[in-house]
Amino acid sequence: MASPVPSVSELVQEARRTYEQVFGGEAPEVAVCAPGRVNLIGEHTDYNQGFVLPMALPMVTVVVGTRTSGQSVSIVTVTKDVEEPNRVDFNLPSDGSPLSPGHPKWANYVKGVVQHYRAQPVPGFRAVIASSVPLGGGLSSSASLEVAVYTFLQQLNPDDGDKVAKAVACQQAEHTHAGVPCGIMDQFVSVLGREAHALLIDCRSLEATLVPLSDPSLVILITNSNVKHSLTGSEYPTRRRQCEEAASILGKASLREATMKDLEDSRDRLDNVTYRRARHVIEEIERTSQAAEALKRSSYKIFGKLMVESHNSLRDLYEVSCRELDELVAAAMEVDGVYGSRMTGGGFGGCTVTLLQAHVIDRTILHIQERYSGSPTFYVTTPSVGAQVLRLS
Ligand code: GLA
Repeated sequence: MASPVPSVSELVQEARRTYEQVFGGEAPEVAVCAPGRVNLIGEHTDYNQGFVLPMALPMVTVVVGTRTSGQSVSIVTVTKDVEEPNRVDFNLPSDGSPLSPGHPKWANYVKGVVQHYRAQPVPGFRAVIASSVPLGGGLSSSASLEVAVYTFLQQLNPDDGDKVAKAVACQQAEHTHAGVPCGIMDQFVSVLGREAHALLIDCRSLEATLVPLSDPSLVILITNSNVKHSLTGSEYPTRRRQCEEAASILGKASLREATMKDLEDSRDRLDNVTYRRARHVIEEIERTSQAAEALKRSSYKIFGKLMVESHNSLRDLYEVSCRELDELVAAAMEVDGVYGSRMTGGGFGGCTVTLLQAHVIDRTILHIQERYSGSPTFYVTTPSVGAQVLRLS
């Protein structure tokens, strides 16, 4: 059956208890949270200036803490399955010099956000982090941590409150301190997600359109393959480079500007791999616009068909799927009442997202469990709100 997700208040309680234990009985003054995300369609299109259609999840990262008078920062994570130390202490450089990434790795997201925070200088602080976003599961645990830390810093030393600039600063943190040249999708939806809505984000203009998604006859099921192949790290920057190369050969600023006709006209100037990468992106951008339209009309069959086309293209043209994700999608699609299913996120493991009729949820979970060669985890989710300040009562 589907796994329960701890509530935000349970996470806050846990973080608070740890804070009081670790920091000598003192109570935290601030609490914030920011969600993970699932992308419904529009994969590997964000760094090509295209469209994406994610929604924020009920799984969140919580930060509780207090501003201190000095320059020192102490952070503890309650996450138990990290192999690294769960506490880090460092001093904020007083001369504005950069905070270098190092160990533990999880602290690099915090350092990156401190570095890129838009209202410098960042004051000293103590904080505890707790999260219900599965780590490394492709549901943006890192973006939710970045956005939660940024939201925390906003309570200590407010910036101008520009939400898009906040997402961009968190994306920068990921680039410089985690070494992942990601697009804007994860941080954007973690900041701007809305309850009962998916977000159609135009990654060129950085404008978003809310698409209602609260039909009670519909369920959004996330299935975690619980595998993560080691390719993820090296393949993502390679894909990004291939797309930039394709755009440059086509004489375009990005693949967003290119049509399939442009691509076919230049086919003999592209090697086969670059051609296939570009084709996925150009068609996926188009599929994402169509899918958003279909969702607005409640045309779930069309939406589901586009999801499957997206998955097949990620598998065959973009080559970022893997056997486990393909198995999960194939199993889901065997159940009557399932509209569509696809891998979600960067690929090479992580999760699939499936859209189905609410009344077939139990049957679908059972069927996937039976057919999948690994051991999956299931989450039944609803579109949730973006980053928030929480009351500490
Ligand atoms: C990762 C990145 C995103 C996006 C997806 C693929 O999640 O962080 O920016 O590129 O992969 O769609």
